[in-house]
Amino acid sequence: AGLGGPQLLAQRTSTGAILRSAIRLPAPFQLPLRMPPVLEPVARDGKADRYEITAREAAAEILPGVRTPIWGYEGIFPGPTIESRRGRPAIVRHRNDLPVPTVVHLHGGHTPPESDGYPTDLVLPTRGWSGGHHSMHDPAAAITEGTRDYTFPLDQRAALLWYHDHRMDFTGPAVYRGLAGLHIVRDDEEDALPLPRGEREIPLLITDRTFAADGSFDYPSLDPSLTRVPGVTDSYLAGVLGDVILVNGVPWPVHEVSATRHRLRLLNASNARRYELALDPPPPNGPAFVQIGSDGGLLESPREHGSITLASAERVDAIVDFGRYPVGTEVTLVNRLGAGSTAQVMRFRVARRERDDTAIPARLSEVEPLRREQAVVTRDFSFRSGRHGDRHGWLIGGRPFDTGYVAARPRLGDVEIWRFVTDLHHPIHLHLVNFQVLSRGGRAPGPLDGGWKDTVDLGPGEAVEVIARFDGYRGRYVFHCHNAEHEDMGMMATFETV
Ligand code: C2O
Ligand code: CU
Repeated sequence: AGLGGPQLLAQRTSTGAILRSAIRLPAPFQLPLRMPPVLEPVARDGKADRYEITAREAAAEILPGVRTPIWGYEGIFPGPTIESRRGRPAIVRHRNDLPVPTVVHLHGGHTPPESDGYPTDLVLPTRGWSGGHHSMHDPAAAITEGTRDYTFPLDQRAALLWYHDHRMDFTGPAVYRGLAGLHIVRDDEEDALPLPRGEREIPLLITDRTFAADGSFDYPSLDPSLTRVPGVTDSYLAGVLGDVILVNGVPWPVHEVSATRHRLRLLNASNARRYELALDPPPPNGPAFVQIGSDGGLLESPREHGSITLASAERVDAIVDFGRYPVGTEVTLVNRLGAGSTAQVMRFRVARRERDDTAIPARLSEVEPLRREQAVVTRDFSFRSGRHGDRHGWLIGGRPFDTGYVAARPRLGDVEIWRFVTDLHHPIHLHLVNFQVLSRGGRAPGPLDGGWKDTVDLGPGEAVEVIARFDGYRGRYVFHCHNAEHEDMGMMATFETV
């Protein structure tokens, strides 16, 4: 699939026939990058900022002239961005005007269990719900009707968090339809650094989608009867991949920048696609990216990378110095793991010289290293596909997700080592805690494993050890593969801090 100009979308029907639709994909690097709007609180008091978000059906113009039905927080995709200060709680009233139950999870949030979005803690639709749900079999499920107030204490380091749907078995289709948004936490430590800010700080929420002939997002198993049933398509087993790359909801956008340092806050919000991001052309001298932060905020010191690999849900905070390029250069953010239409992500146009007073300090922050000797227990978890009863699924320790089974009970405040082994690529995410990668494949952590992480990307057959302190709140949380289809097909488990 060349990207030279408008092209017809070829669509394969369920019988395998190819349908030519009237939908045209835009040529890449024509549409301007958009920034998700920052949400205003409905109230601020001495204790917290209060927000209201309604999840609803809407039509979005993602492809020019085409209406794409979405599910959006506030009716937009991505949802509005929330900006918070460290230690200042945000209380978000989520209202569910969608036709199905929802669950909201703040990914990367250090959140009490009742607001963490356990997958059966449903918010039922305002219009009512007569369908069944797994929460009926989970006596501990906390179900609310129409709305739910989520309290996020945000007593944590400055970082790029994101919120998204987390309903048991249906996270993949719900997020694919648009239920994802950013939540940025800021603090004094980060503010004191001379980093690029304002319009030189750019959040980039990267996703892939396929469009059906009628303009809708094409999710292969929107038919719930296909879920977890033998014979589902291979693509569903692998995870759903799209052929159109959207950045902040815009297909292959273009963005004008000054010839100065910019801070790119990268998030892979795709259901299943992994990216290896690089700059084309690379800067004539110096590294393409200087990483300053990870999932859990600033690194101790910057790290240089020629490219950045991101699995689902991972974040990298990186400085790109467009001052290394002559004015007029077009710099493409490419995806080395993609092919054809998925090999390109977006483009920056270096438009003008501007004064640049920013710098990348050699020391950014303090990251307390967790040491192996601090761990009181080591737990092993395998992430593999397999059969369980008559179902094919993605399993942790041989089991699919079961709300009645607790896979680990860390004591509050304890440091633990968790060892993961996999069959294929799986990005593994823990709720509640940030962790540090201790080893990868029996060797030292990889170049992108530094700092505090909440999601770690495992390669096929690779073993990874992470270390975390389970502090903060008592209660039940989940850990899971963040390939959304793997998660929906069972690759999730409960842990309970006690
Ligand atoms: Cu980003 Cu449990 O999720
Ligand atoms: Cu997986």
